[in-house]
Amino acid sequence: MTLDVVVRDANEIFVGPDELIEDGAVAVQDDAIAAVGPTAEVIREYPPENAAESIDASGRTVLPGFVDAHTHALFAGDRSDEYAAKLRGKTYEEIMAEGGGILSTVSAVRAADEQQLVENLRGHLDTMLAHGTTTVEVKSGYGLDTDSELKMLRALDRVDADHPVDVVPTFMGAHAVPEGYAEAEYVDEVITEQLPAVADQGVAEFCDTFTETGVFSVEQSRRVLQAGIEYGLTPKVHAEELTHLGGTQLAAEVGAASADHLLHATAEDANALADAGTTPVLLPGTAFSLGAEYADYEQFHDAGCSVAVATDFNPNCYSQSMPMAIALACSGMGMTPRDAIAAATAGGADAVDRPSLGTLEAGTPADLLVVDGPSHVYVPYNFGVNTVETVVKQGAIVSDSRSESA
Ligand code: NIG
Ligand code: FE
Repeated sequence: MTLDVVVRDANEIFVGPDELIEDGAVAVQDDAIAAVGPTAEVIREYPPENAAESIDASGRTVLPGFVDAHTHALFAGDRSDEYAAKLRGKTYEEIMAEGGGILSTVSAVRAADEQQLVENLRGHLDTMLAHGTTTVEVKSGYGLDTDSELKMLRALDRVDADHPVDVVPTFMGAHAVPEGYAEAEYVDEVITEQLPAVADQGVAEFCDTFTETGVFSVEQSRRVLQAGIEYGLTPKVHAEELTHLGGTQLAAEVGAASADHLLHATAEDANALADAGTTPVLLPGTAFSLGAEYADYEQFHDAGCSVAVATDFNPNCYSQSMPMAIALACSGMGMTPRDAIAAATAGGADAVDRPSLGTLEAGTPADLLVVDGPSHVYVPYNFGVNTVETVVKQGAIVSDSRSESA
């Protein structure tokens, strides 16, 4: 047995949604949390001098690593030109209709080789890790043909193999209708060509659709998700992002792991998610980037859902930072810092079917953060600044800014 890390004298430990400990310590043994509790008790059983690493967290806060449950972090190029156009009043739909938006990223991804995609993603995951993300869901969906979708998923698999951040891979062939196709024809291709090849490749775990007016209808999305289920992929749905179309009810109907965005979802939708055990994933960065109204957090909370908050990092919503998403969840949706951090950890874990992640309970994988602030409130309170100081992933220190600030 190896005592990997002891973090001691933390001002506060955010064990999970229902438990905060003051003046606490965490002991990590064999990559997992061995003990969490008052410092005196923990260090009696796990003396810091026997640990490979001992971290003095006085005046600081310990949190579970962030689980970013919704991103499109694998892409080429950028869309900074659209940012300026959006600020001048152009809508996301107008940009899409002109062949910009997702389709311009599709051109860049098709033109990029796999190695370039791998390097781009590694760079973004380095930034995410420094901001406290220890697990990230990443979608394909900028290939939109079989070879390019497989190329994206291969790149995800390669980065997952050697980067400290764990990657949860999602196939999203139904992200947009590529040029030269009618909607129905493309849906048939996703089902009869892409999905079998993706299943054969064996990387993807989830299957997602952009269920939206002018993109994929509820019926088309249902066909894709049901075909995905037959190939062993768990459904996820982009639902009610720009309009209310019915993607949330579909997510509940097919037993999706999550329904995401939900800017236009209703209380009835929230109840359907709660009944189905489908996690609502709220993406306040998207509302911020689109200049749109934020999702109504209260209705999901009232319905009794376990809510997730994620970044939606993509070329349209260009922030890799979970602390930023948490700050926007508080300021834009009225979430308490405690609920927002629970949604960024345990909620995210639910949305990607990784129930052992997102808390610091004994026996769970040792993914944890030391934050430079006396309580968890400092994460959103000190907004726009990275307060994450040290990141431990599966028992190893993988990011540490203490030496820089010393
Ligand atoms: O989750 N809404 C669709 N998909 C992404 C945006 C992708 C893009 O614009 O490149 C989203 O916001
Ligand atoms: Fe998305």
